[in-house]
Amino acid sequence: NTDQQSLYQRYDFPVGVAIEPPHTTEPIVQTQFNSITPSNRFKPEFIHPQEKTFYWHHADLLVDYALANEKRLHAHTLIWHEQLPIWMENFQGSKSDWEAMMKHHISTIVKRYKGKVQAWDVINEAFLEDGTLRPNIWLKNIGSSYIEKAFQYAHEADPEALLFYNDFNLSFRPTKRKAVLDLMTNLKLRGVPIHGIGMQSHISTIFPSDQDFISTMEKITQAGFKLHISELDISVNSISKEKFELTDEMLQRQAQRYRFIFNNYQRIEKQYQHGITIWGVSDGESWIPNYFGREDYPLLFDEFFNPKPAYCGLIK
Ligand code: G3I
Repeated sequence: NTDQQSLYQRYDFPVGVAIEPPHTTEPIVQTQFNSITPSNRFKPEFIHPQEKTFYWHHADLLVDYALANEKRLHAHTLIWHEQLPIWMENFQGSKSDWEAMMKHHISTIVKRYKGKVQAWDVINEAFLEDGTLRPNIWLKNIGSSYIEKAFQYAHEADPEALLFYNDFNLSFRPTKRKAVLDLMTNLKLRGVPIHGIGMQSHISTIFPSDQDFISTMEKITQAGFKLHISELDISVNSISKEKFELTDEMLQRQAQRYRFIFNNYQRIEKQYQHGITIWGVSDGESWIPNYFGREDYPLLFDEFFNPKPAYCGLIK
């Protein structure tokens, strides 16, 4: 019975979940998690739909919910190459015009929620799989300094906020992981305000290996960064587009994997723990079936919000 037990009380670190505004009323969010991340509502296309117009309504709802219910809000994401408003993609101007536009975007948002949003994904997915910088609008128009500038602008807007770099596949792309860690370490040495790294962790029951996952966690903390397991979901079906029968064995393997990750995260030194965020509440709302066009059940609760073995394994 999930009403009696609480996932976040079971662990010594923040246990978070990605939500959309209607889910703020979902009792599972209320009872099981003490950190929330907006899956979409802080992204540029939603929060900054026109050059001179910000749309605050949904972001405000999430911030108000977090404050009223003593949840931490880890906001996602200020600078990315996806979910951009059309005006931003088509913005015309010199390098300094682009810097001013990026600064205005970041400062306006971060200032509004100063003291209310505790942490930000400042930069999302700046690297390609081969470890080179992704040729997004920011790189093309500002150059590679857009990364450090974004962190500086966010820091100036709220000096207390924790600032993160967030990316995917870090545990099984060694070249990409090294490129991310080298750049972030270098920026940090030069005094750029970057506090942590998010390992998105869209993984499966079989991939990557436990060893690769754990060693990536270690590399990040050993480099002196807070570690956020920022978008955890564990696919039971990483290949097939065909319909299949969900077996107890699949659910048990998934449960073991969730437990393995939580148990290992628990062992990290406190100063490096930022928490684990699960990318959605129930299987019915996971991004995976839509995005990959395949059947899947990657989260802790089924589509009817019943706890799965994965949840039961984490709470015991
Ligand atoms: O807002 C529109 C709505 O007006 C329209 O009716 C509806 C019809 O499909 O689409 C809505 O937009 C959707 C949006 O989520 C908000 O719900 C988009 O189609 C859909 O593509 C979008 O998906 C999001 C995806 O990022 C976009 O790439 C997922 O919800 C979100 O979970 C996912 O999250 C990303 C992280 O930000 C970064 N890491 C990878 C992760 C998974 O892709």
